[in-house]
Amino acid sequence: MCGIVGYIGTKPVKQILIDGLRELEYRGYDSAGIAVLQNHQFSLFKAVGKLINLEEKSQKFESTGFSVGIGHTRWATHGKPTELNAHPHIGSASSVVHNGIIENYQELKNMLTSKGVQFLSQTDTEVIVHLFEYHLKTANTPFEAFTKTVGELDGAYAVLLINAQVDDTIFFAKHGSPMILGRNHENETFFGSSDAALIGKCHEVIYLEDGHYGVATKDSITLYDGQNNPVNLQFTPLSENKLSAQKEGFRFFMEKEIYEQGTVLADTLMGRLRDETVYFEELDPTLFDGINEIKLCACGTSYHAAMVATYLFERHARIRTSVEIASEFRYREPLLAPDTLFVVISQSGETADTLESLKMAKKAGLKTLVICNVDNSSMVRLADASILTRAGIEKGVASTKAFATQVTVLWMLSLTLASERKILQANEIAHQIKLLRTLPSVVAVDNGIHEQLRRLSKRYLHGHGFFFIGRDVFFPLALEGALKLKEISYLHAEGYPSGEMKHGPIALADPELFTIALLPQHKLYDKTKSNVEELSARDSTICSISPLDFDKADDHIRTHYHEDYMLEFFEMMVVLQLLSMEIAVRLGNDVDMPRNLAKSVTVE
Ligand code: F6R
Repeated sequence: MCGIVGYIGTKPVKQILIDGLRELEYRGYDSAGIAVLQNHQFSLFKAVGKLINLEEKSQKFESTGFSVGIGHTRWATHGKPTELNAHPHIGSASSVVHNGIIENYQELKNMLTSKGVQFLSQTDTEVIVHLFEYHLKTANTPFEAFTKTVGELDGAYAVLLINAQVDDTIFFAKHGSPMILGRNHENETFFGSSDAALIGKCHEVIYLEDGHYGVATKDSITLYDGQNNPVNLQFTPLSENKLSAQKEGFRFFMEKEIYEQGTVLADTLMGRLRDETVYFEELDPTLFDGINEIKLCACGTSYHAAMVATYLFERHARIRTSVEIASEFRYREPLLAPDTLFVVISQSGETADTLESLKMAKKAGLKTLVICNVDNSSMVRLADASILTRAGIEKGVASTKAFATQVTVLWMLSLTLASERKILQANEIAHQIKLLRTLPSVVAVDNGIHEQLRRLSKRYLHGHGFFFIGRDVFFPLALEGALKLKEISYLHAEGYPSGEMKHGPIALADPELFTIALLPQHKLYDKTKSNVEELSARDSTICSISPLDFDKADDHIRTHYHEDYMLEFFEMMVVLQLLSMEIAVRLGNDVDMPRNLAKSVTVE
């Protein structure tokens, strides 16, 4: 996803900006650019592709003495990854970089176009710089024009803007996309969309809050809140240690990755939701032509996400869907029909069995699609089409946010298929889109629930095993919950469809068998409840997770009320992730690097 850097100081600005962008490279991008302002003159460089291309383009540019600069890595949302669409965007004497999405950009663009403003790019961002210059004509100061501009933007943004009249100044604003301001003892000021870009350069930072905006010059920083009240500058020290700083105060990468799922899912959804349609810019509209069946294939956690998709694809799009474990698929001499779309799911894009299955499907002449987190990975290069999940780098070996983004993409894809196949009405799709938009807040960690899990984890450190049970999409979620627990606690755990318990597994029930029961209000509640009661009657220790009270439980984790089962799914996913983590912490295990496991499994 996009990255932003900014600099005010006397060091060679180009290198500082490019080094900062390099620290943000892990987020993925398809073009990059920088703008430098010195002695009221702009120098602007942009390039498609990797930073090396930007370095080549700006090779001859050197600056000495004081300057200000802004830089950006862009992950295309509105408009293709071209040089014209790359940031910074320019007006007649101003330049802007932006992360996020300006929801009312079309309205603003129409207004500006009617005043004779010419647009160069297809982006939403370009309206910011033109709106600023429009207000500059009547404003008393450039800052007044900037304030007016920010007041008219709807949506999510982190913005840096520079203007030739004030060549020692960066205007900044943050709403819904991260932005950090930092400074050091050498009187330099930095901006970054993640502190990764600031570590080693600043000793203290301010993590701007939503609604914050202001102006930084070589001598001062002024900050306002969303109500236009001045805000006291409260800097916090920035760790010098890259690794601990990257954990941003969390104990483990896994914990940080669980907590950042809200931001990450906002990235996954960005630019892909319209009022009544889901839009994957990267998909050729002919991809689904002639397709009557979908076969999903993956390993581990990605396989669980694929299992969720079987329910959603058949339910929403009424298309025959099956799922395969890649290591089995590749050797079982499968029959493949040419009207099947073969979809592989992989966080890394390098898992040997999944990659090999993809090759087999291609060889059999099937159309192929990969849902992946890593651009340019082997699978992305090989498949006919790809959708990137935009989870950012996942460091914890136990996958959390990657799974959340995979399921989100698959849910969206089920709606794309549903409209392609004319199964769901526009209003039904619009309703699903409304639900999808709430995901970032649904996965936000509830501190009360986390505290409860921390406390009750001490009762789940022994026993002869765990059953995670659920029905429908909560069955693959149960499998995923059990896998998380196994991976980092080394305790034995199984996931089961709750209706299957009486066909054998219930024989294990006793007080030392822990049942983690997923009891969503809106999907087969009564059926699942009866299954849990059967286990409770046999004295299994029950931990229920539900928004509804359950009197047969030994422990009950009360989730929030949601209007749809998929939202319940996402909240329960977070609860299971935290539960596993807290149990592993109590057992003293290495949460981020559990024994025997590797992040990317490139052997079969
Ligand atoms: C579990 C986990 C693994 C991976 C599996 C596939 O937490 O991360 O089960 O899901 O190894 O990896 P990818 O998704 O990279 O193909």
